[in-house]
Amino acid sequence: MNTTWTPDSWRSLEAKHQPIWPDQAELEQALKTLGDQPPLVFAGEARDLTAQLGKVAQGEAFLLQAGDCAESFESSADSIRDRLRVILQMAIVLTYSGGTPLVKIGRIAGQFAKPRSSPTETKGGEELPSFLGQSVNDIGFTEAERRPDPQRLLAAYNRAASTLNLLRAFTRGGYADLSQVSTWNREFVASSPAGERYTQMADEIDRALTFMAACGVTGESVPALHEVDFFTSHEALLLNYEEALTRQDSLTGDWYDCSAHMLWIGERTRQLDGAHVEFLRGVQNPLGCKVGPTATPDEVLSLCEALNPDRVPGRLTLIVRQGADKVTEGLPPLLAAVRDSGHPVVWACDPMHGNTYESEVGVKTRHFDDVLKEISGFFAAHAQEGTWPGGVHVELTGDAVTECLGGSDDLVDGDLEHAYETMCDPRLNGRQSVDLAFRVAELLRARA
Ligand code: PEP
Ligand code: CO
Repeated sequence: MNTTWTPDSWRSLEAKHQPIWPDQAELEQALKTLGDQPPLVFAGEARDLTAQLGKVAQGEAFLLQAGDCAESFESSADSIRDRLRVILQMAIVLTYSGGTPLVKIGRIAGQFAKPRSSPTETKGGEELPSFLGQSVNDIGFTEAERRPDPQRLLAAYNRAASTLNLLRAFTRGGYADLSQVSTWNREFVASSPAGERYTQMADEIDRALTFMAACGVTGESVPALHEVDFFTSHEALLLNYEEALTRQDSLTGDWYDCSAHMLWIGERTRQLDGAHVEFLRGVQNPLGCKVGPTATPDEVLSLCEALNPDRVPGRLTLIVRQGADKVTEGLPPLLAAVRDSGHPVVWACDPMHGNTYESEVGVKTRHFDDVLKEISGFFAAHAQEGTWPGGVHVELTGDAVTECLGGSDDLVDGDLEHAYETMCDPRLNGRQSVDLAFRVAELLRARA
């Protein structure tokens, strides 16, 4: 692990969950083309995010990381806008109602590759490779669609570029102006309890903005009222792809993975002697690492040492996903070990991946109550250990899907068939997401 790092030093180690590409020459050609593409993000932006996350590590801000489980190449502009809108709505609720500055990161513009529990899927007696995300193969259940195709890596890059372009336009071009907060709410109005609560809050913000404008404070004088900082992230799963987009920063000489601002290591690929930890330790982007129910304090400390040996605040976010029933017992020993070691980490709660189960109608789902219970347990564990519950990491969409149960509309099993659209895990819909933000804001307020 302590040997010299290079963008390809991961290649001598075992890399789990990599596709078996049928045509090596075609893969090499695609990677070469990718290597010639412009970076998607600039090193200075990644440094800015590290600094913002540093504030979270120090207990001065809160992190919201949210977006799709697996993004689709076919997402419409409206769907991308609506996903951004829901994240911004949650951010407003957390900032206004929770009373803390917020760091906003999307699981977006690059979240196209998925690790799967089984390499194959069997349907009606036929066994085919599992769907590994659209940067590898397609979700359709035919041999041709499930064949890993290196051209998809290029398609993923192009799709990430156009999504990022749209996000930059929305967040810098006036859509995210604070005076728009009430217009973001059209779909929610009156018809849901979370929507009513949101309208009330938006009215209060409008009044505050009118007051501030009367005092001479406007979006022109204070850019933060007019624009938002919004960062991108995805699981750095396909190391070929990540390596091809890794560039040396001309200002500092440091290496950055320019496929996104933040990259995280998944629960299935966080082996200390594995290729993912090796690759990510050498890029200077802020990093995340999932921490599931089997992770021991020693393992977590070793990950901190490997990924953040210089103890830079904001460099490492530990994304805990233990499950609603395990977090209360499982998390405190991890918090205590990291606290006592002096490692400055951001602790984020992923209340989704430890709470997935098969519904009565045979599809994967999650219940809003379990999601909330894991977050409550996360806050309680931090209160017990005197550490800062730094943020939440959720899977959501702005589309009106019915994939997770419960929430203020109280979706039940029979509702799942109405709009079950996810390509991978079940996501909170817009109403459930805003509802969740109000609940998390209450937990934040209760801490103060
Ligand atoms: C995910 O975040 O979509 C995921 C696969 O999570 P995990 O690595 O925690 O299982
Ligand atoms: Co997922």
